[in-house]
Amino acid sequence: MKLHVFLCLSLSLVHTPLAVARPQSNAVWAADSAIARGQGNGLDSNGNPIVSYEHGELQWGLRQLFEVTGNQTYFNYIQTGVNNIVLPNGTVHGSYKDL
Ligand SMILES: *[C@@H]1O[C@H](CO)[C@@H](O)[C@H](O)[C@H]1NC(C)=O
Ligand SMILES: *[C@@H]1O[C@H](CO)[C@@H](O)[C@H](O)[C@H]1NC(C)=O
Repeated sequence: MKLHVFLCLSLSLVHTPLAVARPQSNAVWAADSAIARGQGNGLDSNGNPIVSYEHGELQWGLRQLFEVTGNQTYFNYIQTGVNNIVLPNGTVHGSYKDL
């Protein structure tokens, strides 16, 4: 038992620097990576508004991450993405048609 505790402590000490450098979860890691690349922000590669299924899927994932973590960063990113495609009068940029 003492050996087991010693091994666990030793392993956690060895892994401490790595654990500090890594994000708290793979979901956070993936989300931060996508945000750093500006993915799913409602803009195409030329910076023009685009209504995109993929952007919506990323934003849905960020919403779930926001609900779990309460981290406002994710909410703000979603809001920015929506503001990029929805005009102040509520209409949507481009040729998007509500069916
Ligand atoms: C929220 O998430 C961002 C991006 O991962 C991170 O930089 C920030 O420290 C987080 N804020 C809190 C309060 O955890
Ligand atoms: C909403 O605003 C845009 C940009 O000003 C305009 O082109 C569009 O006609 C407006 N739509 C409505 C329903 O007012």
